[in-house]
Amino acid sequence: MGSKRSSTKLISASLIALVTVFGSCYYDKYESLYGVTKCDTTNVGYSNVISPIIQRDCAGCHSGSGASAGIQLYDYTSVKTYMSSNKMRLLGSVKWDGTASNMPKGGNKWSNCNINSMQSWVNQGMKP
Ligand code: HEC
Repeated sequence: MGSKRSSTKLISASLIALVTVFGSCYYDKYESLYGVTKCDTTNVGYSNVISPIIQRDCAGCHSGSGASAGIQLYDYTSVKTYMSSNKMRLLGSVKWDGTASNMPKGGNKWSNCNINSMQSWVNQGMKP
């Protein structure tokens, strides 16, 4: 009786371990399948969506007294200001559609998700 009980315990423990291991595997897969490819443009604000990509890919050249082409793109106010009067130029630069110099200069073209987000940010009224 005693040994039967402990082997039942062992089996239960193994099952719990298995579920935990495969459960977390499944979760990881779910994240990489849906977390990365998903592009949610329903609520695009500057700080939640635009700021990280501008900081990473544009602010390095477009800020300060030596800003490239004198164009400031590093925070909400500067991006909104430039976008307001040069919308087609700014959007064209990240779309690489031939209407402006391709940006980020010397870098990789933005993902469709980043480009769509920028367009949505404008469509939604350039919210902070
Ligand atoms: C490595 C430096 C560098 C980076 C990074 C960079 N730019 Fe530029 N940008 C320039 C330079 C230099 C110019 C002047 C035009 C040229 O040389 O192509 C320019 C010009 C522009 C123009 C005017 C284009 C035109 O045809 O008049 C826009 C708009 C622009 N950049 C937006 C951006 C955006 C948006 C990003 C980020 C996605 C970015 N830039 C990243 C250097 C950079």
